[in-house]
Parts: sequence; structure tokens; C-alpha cells
Amino acid sequence: MATAWRWLGFAVLAMVAVKASRLSLSDASAAKKLAFVKKTVSSHGIVIFSKSYCPYCRRAKAVFKKLKKEPYVLELDQRGDGSEIQDALSEMVGRRAVPQVFIHGKHLGGSDDTVEAYENGTILTLLDIDSTNDL
Ligand SMILES: *[C@@H]1O[C@H](CO)[C@@H](O)[C@H](O)[C@H]1NC(C)=O
Repeated sequence: MATAWRWLGFAVLAMVAVKASRLSLSDASAAKKLAFVKKTVSSHGIVIFSKSYCPYCRRAKAVFKKLKKEPYVLELDQRGDGSEIQDALSEMVGRRAVPQVFIHGKHLGGSDDTVEAYENGTILTLLDIDSTNDL
């Protein structure tokens, strides 16, 4: 009987250990994705986290097309690690929806924020575009 209890205790400990190591593995991979997102955002002037089929993403991209600016676009539905990137992104900006737009490393927001910043002119300042120029 005592042996049986000892084995049970051992089995429980083993299960806890396996679970803990899995957890730290996924933590490490999440940290890596977060680092990837931060690096991506800081190495391009305009970054859009997008999904290729999403109409709001198209709307956000259209704004930059009108401004004749080329954003760096990550289509999360077209990459194997897309959902992990989306996890890291949502941890960073507090929103899981796409698109999420960054200009010069600064989080602008989603599609509505991008269109609003275009309509109220703040996007020109963010992009260092002289608003006296014709666009
Ligand atoms: C313009 O729009 C942006 C994006 O929504 C917003 O953050 C900003 O406060 C607005 N500025 C003005 C002057 O309305």
C-alpha cells in the first residue's frame, strides 16, 4: 500500500514537471514572437499586421496607397506562425483585431484609427509629409 502511494506521488510529480517544462517552452516561444514583432515594427517606417482576406485591412492599406507610401505588410493568414504573431501583437497593443498599423515604431491603431488619422491630417505628421504638398 505504501509503495502504491509512493508511486502515485511520483507519477503526479512527473506530470507536474512535464507540464511545467511545456509551459516554459511556450513562454520562450511567445517571448521570441514578441521580440520579432518589436523588431519588425522598429525596422520599417510603416508596418501593417494584416490578413489577406480582411476588408478592414484593405481599407487601411488603401490609405497608404493614396499617400503613395509603401507599407511593410505581414499577412498573418499566410504564415505558419501567424497566430503566434497575433498573440504577441495582442499582448503588445491590447487588441486582437487586424489590421494593426505602426508608423515609425509607434502604434497608430486599427483601420478606423488609420482612416481617421488620414482624414484629420495627423497621419501626415506621423509620416513626416509636408501637408502643404499636393497629394
Ligand atoms: C486624429 O485621429 C487620430 C487617430 O484616431 C487621433 O488619435 C487624433 O487624436 C486625432 N486628432 C485630431 C486633431 O482630431
